[in-house]
Amino acid sequence: MLKIVVCVSGGGTNLQAVIDAIARGSITNARIEAVISNNPGAYALKRAEEHGIANVCISPKQFETRGLFNQAFLEKVSSYQPDLIVLAGFLVVIPEIMIREYQNRIINIHPSLIPSFCGTGYYGLKVHEGVLKRGVKVTGATVHFVDEGTDTGPIILQKPVLVEEGDTPELLQRRVMEQAEWSILPQAIDLIANGKVTVTEGRTVIDWKKA
Ligand code: GRF
Repeated sequence: MLKIVVCVSGGGTNLQAVIDAIARGSITNARIEAVISNNPGAYALKRAEEHGIANVCISPKQFETRGLFNQAFLEKVSSYQPDLIVLAGFLVVIPEIMIREYQNRIINIHPSLIPSFCGTGYYGLKVHEGVLKRGVKVTGATVHFVDEGTDTGPIILQKPVLVEEGDTPELLQRRVMEQAEWSILPQAIDLIANGKVTVTEGRTVIDWKKA
């Protein structure tokens, strides 16, 4: 049974998609041990509470230095002994010691087709604003392992979404969630939980035969 810790900062619709997928059996061999947020007001914490999942807030604001927060955050996450850490809209930079300790065991959902519209400064609505400004006709979402860079780790799954005439960043954000994020994040977790994802030389190989 894969033990998961989900880290969130906001509404938690991706968290909800994972909770629902586990409940209906489209994710197997996995269980959410805890939900951790840096934001005490995150609705995601309520979602966890409603489903009887342990939920805690740990914020950089509670600590004098970033180093102290990083240490406490790592200790909090590790107290749940996770096999997989899922960043589902988590707006805090993951400390390097944690990335090293959990190599290829931290995944992130990003709302574009990496390597487009990703990296420093591309988060939340800014991603979709960039997409509309550039005028690309296809965007989407990516689930990837987290490495020391920003959105540079091995890609696990991607799904395209069409940009439509008259889109606003908000409309596009919602469509990318509905048509891509909420399906590929649970799917990636299911693949990992069932031993179908391996990482070789910075790229993933998915064993679809067994899927
Ligand atoms: C999603 O768009 C995700 O791709 C990004 O942050 C947003 C989180 O939304 N990393 P939610 O909190 O899951 O509703």
